[in-house]
Amino acid sequence: AYRPTPEDRFTFGLWTVGWRGVNTFGDAVRPPLDPVDAVRRLSDLGAYGITFHDDDLIPPGSTPSERDAVLKRFRGALDETGLAVPMVTTNLFTHPVFRDGGFTSNSRDVRRHAVRKVVRNIDLAVSLGATTYVCWGGQDGAETEAGKDGAAALDRLREAFDLLCGYVREQGYDLRFAIEPKPNEPRGDVLLPTVGHALAFINSLEHPEMVGVNPEVGHEQMAGLNFAHGVAQALWAGKLFHIDLNGQRGVKYDQDLRFGAGDVKEAFFLVDLLERAGYAGPRHFDFKPPRTEDTDGVWVSAQACMRNYLILKEKAAAFRADPEVREALEASRVPELSVPTLGEGEDLAGLLAEEFDADAAGGRGYHFERLDQLALEHLLGVR
Ligand code: GCO
Ligand code: MN
Ligand code: MN
Ligand code: MN
Repeated sequence: AYRPTPEDRFTFGLWTVGWRGVNTFGDAVRPPLDPVDAVRRLSDLGAYGITFHDDDLIPPGSTPSERDAVLKRFRGALDETGLAVPMVTTNLFTHPVFRDGGFTSNSRDVRRHAVRKVVRNIDLAVSLGATTYVCWGGQDGAETEAGKDGAAALDRLREAFDLLCGYVREQGYDLRFAIEPKPNEPRGDVLLPTVGHALAFINSLEHPEMVGVNPEVGHEQMAGLNFAHGVAQALWAGKLFHIDLNGQRGVKYDQDLRFGAGDVKEAFFLVDLLERAGYAGPRHFDFKPPRTEDTDGVWVSAQACMRNYLILKEKAAAFRADPEVREALEASRVPELSVPTLGEGEDLAGLLAEEFDADAAGGRGYHFERLDQLALEHLLGVR
């Protein structure tokens, strides 16, 4: 049981299982992972796909023939295993040139370089079959107020997305962009810190229909926000183009724990939401196997991400099917929220004319505690 298959649409970033454990205070603890080995190993574990940043796959500074050789081996492994590449992204953060950001660097030449780097990698993404292009502007932010003109930064960010969307349209590519919000790290404050900020920004674009969000569990939680609520709003807006699944414990540095670790109750309600909403995109794991793990531990951690998703999926389905839960949902008036406030054919006058006993309705309890406890007991495995 809980053995993933490609139908489960589980995908992993090459930079996740390939993370060598370098952090602010410590050196790498693991050897480099050959992308071909990553493809084979993920396929053996039952994953559907693999994703990457340009520089994860093609070492920066490669000559055209070195690049071709890397791609040939990588495509070979994809063909041999059937693993898909549904999403690709760009590294606009590691090289010192991006120390003040990519699309919103104060330096105009750096912004032009960033756009070129993305456009070149879009061609590769499309040639590998990717239909989603993630944009995470990790270095687009500030540590100071005086050093960054916030409105100008948003103008430049909009300009970048308008250029990229224009390019994709011109080429006739079947590709959409997904913006990944994060409140901080590596910058003290990052631009578009939450799902809500990103959704509002997208509405300002020339082609808003081509751009959605790629929310990451831990990133909203770093801002103290409820991830399931953020994802619900993205779904409601038709903007959940992709999702980064991982774990986080509270408001602190980006932990990128395996999915299911950290806030397990929020993970339960997230899976419940994604499955009930019929989210059809990849379930993409963006985690960092802790530095304490050796190479074997990395794969244990990767496998656990998928296993936890499948366990939570089963638990959430059992919760929804439980007759006592259905009754508790009714008692909490949850289905009633789906009934429009005005009746069919009714106008505001009807509502205004209505008599209402606020004291009687004010005495009403909502029984959410009973309902939530039922969820917890399903999650804890005692029902
Ligand atoms: C993070 C981010 C990154 C991005 C990835 C895509 O943990 O801060 O999730 O890992 O997802 O780099 O560009
Ligand atoms: Mn993260
Ligand atoms: Mn991410
Ligand atoms: Mn990450």
